[in-house]
Amino acid sequence: MRLDRFVSSQRGELSRSMVRELCRQGRVTVNGSPVKKPDAVIDELHDEVAVSGERISYRQYIYIMLNKPQGVVCATRDGLSQTVLELIPQQLRRRGLFPAGRLDKDTEGFVLITDDGGLAHRMLSPKSHVPKTYLVRTAYPIDERLVPAFAQGLTIDGGELCLPAELTLSEDPFCCTLVLHEGKFHQVKRMFESCGNKVTFLKRVRIGALELDPELPLGGCLEIMHKDVEKLLSR
Ligand code: URA
Repeated sequence: MRLDRFVSSQRGELSRSMVRELCRQGRVTVNGSPVKKPDAVIDELHDEVAVSGERISYRQYIYIMLNKPQGVVCATRDGLSQTVLELIPQQLRRRGLFPAGRLDKDTEGFVLITDDGGLAHRMLSPKSHVPKTYLVRTAYPIDERLVPAFAQGLTIDGGELCLPAELTLSEDPFCCTLVLHEGKFHQVKRMFESCGNKVTFLKRVRIGALELDPELPLGGCLEIMHKDVEKLLSR
């Protein structure tokens, strides 16, 4: 791959022309030696490339765990509200990032941001049934009869059938954990509404077998390492 293309693909904040300038200044090194020609061809899998002494490790795709705060929208662009992409720190930004799946503006928690369309497709495909786990707080005490009703598969909005979902009650009668195996529009809120209750707080805490890092503050991001990526698809 060309050196300028490699650097700007891995470091989204650096355009090709910025990389060309950095090369001219001798600030881009390959295997420890400055390379002034931006069109030099490198072996992205084996060569060690650094910019201003900072090593760039090659990743074909990037996977970012974001703890979305309320008030932020799951979109790549929005005229009015802050988007999840605007929360990604400079060093993790690159072209082609998008949120794989949506949470409502007032929902918190785990959003995967990636540039891997194949993984996102597998994760979101209705056939894959990747479980998503939510913490739910409601306006009224949660009726324990909802546990078998959700497990059987609830019918919402007069006809839409939901897949069986696992509801686990907690000591607090207003809180529960809910695992869904699909992602219908506003699904958690609509499920509770159809049972005469109302969701007042919603947070996604797990996708597949990968848990939202409990140390990650609201609005915080961390890169998901290779060994954990497959967990996103695990049932
Ligand atoms: N269900 C909802 O109602 N809202 C979300 O954001 C996610 C699941």
